[in-house]
Amino acid sequence: MSALFESFQLKSVTLKNRIAIPPMCQYSATDGVANDWHQVHYAGLARGGAGLVIVEATAVSPEGRITPKCLGIWNEAQAQELAKLAQTIKSNGSVPGIQIGHAGRKASANIPWQGDDHIEGEGGWETLSPSAIPFGGHLAKEPKAMTLEDIERVKADFVQAAQRALAAGFEWLELHFAHGYLAQSFFSVHANQRQDGYGGDAKARGRFLLETLQAVREVWPETLPLTARLGVIEFDGRDEETLQEAIVLLNEMKEVGLDMVNVSVGFSTKEANIPWGPAFLAPIAERVKKETGLPVASSWGIDKAEDAQRVVADGQMDLVMIGRAYLADPHWTYTLARKLGVDKPSWTLPAPYAHWLERYALTE
Ligand code: NDP
Ligand code: FNR
Repeated sequence: MSALFESFQLKSVTLKNRIAIPPMCQYSATDGVANDWHQVHYAGLARGGAGLVIVEATAVSPEGRITPKCLGIWNEAQAQELAKLAQTIKSNGSVPGIQIGHAGRKASANIPWQGDDHIEGEGGWETLSPSAIPFGGHLAKEPKAMTLEDIERVKADFVQAAQRALAAGFEWLELHFAHGYLAQSFFSVHANQRQDGYGGDAKARGRFLLETLQAVREVWPETLPLTARLGVIEFDGRDEETLQEAIVLLNEMKEVGLDMVNVSVGFSTKEANIPWGPAFLAPIAERVKKETGLPVASSWGIDKAEDAQRVVADGQMDLVMIGRAYLADPHWTYTLARKLGVDKPSWTLPAPYAHWLERYALTE
């Protein structure tokens, strides 16, 4: 049996295998509310055999959306539709997770296929960041440097979002602390030049993340997984320093109740030199796992059965996250099982599909 098909338990939640679908924005919501697109999309992904499906970055406040078409979780109308998504994922055989976040200085952008740049004029909004430093390039808008009141309010927004996610039926909560959005911006020297206890050395830059996690942990049940996606490296030439800082922060987060880390890239600066390639983050994930003792998930460029198998079998990751490959093939786990020669691979799918694929096997 492939290591990928072993179950994985975190707190009271058991995933049927080591394959997870990471959050992937759909930019298809209106007023932050999920609709038919999301229902069909998430039902399809959940049906496709992964143990865990994490719903895309869902904003804790209106100004925390990346684009006007992003999902939100700051009101009850949004929570109601999210509850249907959680139910859909569960009834299609997967564990329902959700990622909550705030886009910080990368917010107020046009959707990717309409420019991906900051919205000029009408329809845009004031963005927030630890310091008034724009990301630059296509995201050139200068953000407002957050006041201490802003910081308290955003932390409270995360807490309320976590409560809504729980009430909506999600069983796995991921805090979006990555990808150059608000939390990552606090952690990054590229975005944070504060001198008030939330900026300066690595400990101060990690404070917003740690306090947000701590506040969410108080309302998110001990029995359910609370994870964070963190950009542990920027590939900006400060790699060892950034990684060391991230490992120290993750150890502090573990102390206050972090259950797992989703290892990712910082994306806080345009001046990065990212070594894109198959499973390029796997050695970094392995190091984070060893030096924090936390269970680790990661993704990036893992779309081949052999790579997925290797990173889990070698213990580099506990869960492998499959993003774009799942968009290309919503039954990716079935395809994987066939490639790996798993006995009766069709049973990775629900019976109405599995029965026929088992009874009359495909020729290829
Ligand atoms: P960008 O999409 O602007 O990407 C930053 C740089 O990385 C660009 O040079 C881009 O190349 C390159 N790049 C991005 N993804 C890949 C890839 N898979 N393979 C090769 N090169 C890549 O940065 P963002 O900060 O907007 O997003 C960072 C990553 O997170 C991206 O991979 C994006 O797809 C993903 N993402 C994250 C979201 C989230 O966390 N909520 C939402 C949507 C996407 P180029 O200029 O050629 O595009
Ligand atoms: C993403 N990604 C992403 N990451 C995240 O933390 N929250 C999100 O909402 C999104 N949204 C998103 C949308 C789309 C369309 C893509 C392609 C990507 C990043 C994603 O979770 C994943 O880490 C990357 O796609 C890398 O994995 P793959 O695609 O190489 O398997």
